[in-house]
Amino acid sequence: MLLRRRYAFTLAAGVAGAIAAGLLTPDLSFGQQRQPRPNATATQKPAGGGTSDTSPDAGTSTLPEGIDEKQSYLPVVVPDFETVRKKDIAERDKVITTQKSLLENRYDLRDDASDLPMSAGRKKVQQGVRVKLPDGVTWDDLAAMSPAEIKEQDAWPQGFRPLPHVKHATGGMVIRKEHIKAIQEAEHRSLDRFDVEFDLPEHLLPEFPPPIFLTNRPDLGDVSQGQVVTIKNFHELFLGKLTPFQLEGLRLLLTPFPQQQFNATGDRKVDEASLGISCFDCHTNGHTNASFHLNPDTRPQELRFRLDTPSLRGMFNQRIHGSKRSLRSVEDFTEFEQRSAYFDGDQVTAAKKGIHAPDRATSIAPMAQFQNMLDFPPAPKLDIYGKLDSEQASESERRGQELFFGKARCAECHPAPHYLDNLMHDLHVERFFEPKMVNGHFDHPAGPMKTMTLRGIKDSPPYLHDGRLLTLDDTVEFFNLIQGLKLNKQEKADLVAFLKTL
Ligand code: HEC
Ligand code: HEC
Repeated sequence: MLLRRRYAFTLAAGVAGAIAAGLLTPDLSFGQQRQPRPNATATQKPAGGGTSDTSPDAGTSTLPEGIDEKQSYLPVVVPDFETVRKKDIAERDKVITTQKSLLENRYDLRDDASDLPMSAGRKKVQQGVRVKLPDGVTWDDLAAMSPAEIKEQDAWPQGFRPLPHVKHATGGMVIRKEHIKAIQEAEHRSLDRFDVEFDLPEHLLPEFPPPIFLTNRPDLGDVSQGQVVTIKNFHELFLGKLTPFQLEGLRLLLTPFPQQQFNATGDRKVDEASLGISCFDCHTNGHTNASFHLNPDTRPQELRFRLDTPSLRGMFNQRIHGSKRSLRSVEDFTEFEQRSAYFDGDQVTAAKKGIHAPDRATSIAPMAQFQNMLDFPPAPKLDIYGKLDSEQASESERRGQELFFGKARCAECHPAPHYLDNLMHDLHVERFFEPKMVNGHFDHPAGPMKTMTLRGIKDSPPYLHDGRLLTLDDTVEFFNLIQGLKLNKQEKADLVAFLKTL
């Protein structure tokens, strides 16, 4: 019966519904039929029958049916470009609306900026908790409950669950709209996918373009001069400020190379056979523009998680890279991304789409060196130990610091001066909810994750590896529950005030 239902899905009418229910990979629904799991039993219901976060039958702790657990390779054989493109365009509005309603269900997306500017002053930091609470529950109620009680009563705020990709089954890089526009203007290169668009509202993202601070020339301040650095203007902007070796590294970081969605093959997601994508199309100006992807290191597809682009600022002090892979050098990260189709961990499709296998000595070394020149933004209230200089800090900021290093125990994983321990930690967020299928993503336990630095944190919303938290206020509510801290209102406000000084 299960098999019959799957075949029915390939009929035009069934496809959209199946995708919305997260049961089928759109590209897989052509030609390739997924087999039911060999050990599937009649009693196991497909989880996540609904598109909404709150579908009642959604909880299960084992893999739901419809997930092909034997899947490692991404599909290589797909129908011709025009067929896929037409189908993608036909589904596009529905995909976008489904994601929009998920975001609106989970978050208060209002534009409510504080007085605090981000580092270049182009945008103000957004304020207030944005994750919505379940009906009739307060933050204090949640803090008084045990993780098991929260899980049992399904009281974990939906916005604290992993955030799915806008089209999880297909995945791939989704670039922020402002950056797409900037690159179209500067280079006439399109990063505009026909199947999806960037989902979070502009006011909740990092300032654009972000400033660049160089470790070798702190005297210069922001060297971007308010521009998006591209292959067209980098020379003019950086001549006399970088060595030729570093300039070469920057050139390569700005040079587009073909990959998964942006290339010349029939399974690209842009209209024109494309020149490709560059490192700084996501890490605009060496920071982040909040473009996202799926993580490369998990299979099957439904279990991969969304990845928000991290900043490259302060890379010089980081010893492990990637939320899961723990690559041991910037060089390794730079090389392996390109050799394995960027974020798909797949050398097979990389070869098909135009592999760029950069040479370690002549390409990777200068790319890494430039990345290691990117400094954190200035934090004028911090002393050489990375702690608040008491003359300049407010009462609330100082109380926040005391909490951070004391009662709230944040410093155990985010120690000064760089607010980074260079380790991975498992926060066991799954203590609080039953995994379920949400818009094509099965939100199973995430396992150990790279701990991020908190220096310059006000500049890089949204937060956590998948960008599920929109403001710093959200991160404090999150850790208050994760760590069982039972902070009061004033303590939470003080912690947020401290995070903004970093
Ligand atoms: C889709 C947009 C995108 C593009 C294009 C991109 N990155 Fe990234 N970058 C990311 C994401 C997302 C991560 C997080 C990866 C993870 O957690 O596994 C990341 C992580 C990194 C890291 C590790 C950061 C850390 O905190 O450990 C480095 C270094 C890096 N990228 C460099 C590069 C280089 C070099 C290129 C070009 C070869 C590149 N990136 C291209 C989005 C992108
Ligand atoms: C047990 C270790 C641990 C403790 C304790 C901890 N964190 Fe973290 N923190 C992490 C890890 C791991 C991540 C990345 C998690 C992820 O991406 O899923 C993280 C991420 C964050 C982020 C998001 C960073 C970004 O760039 O998106 C913020 C903000 C943060 N922590 C603040 C805090 C605060 C405030 C406290 C104390 C109340 C705290 N953390 C306590 C390990 C910890």
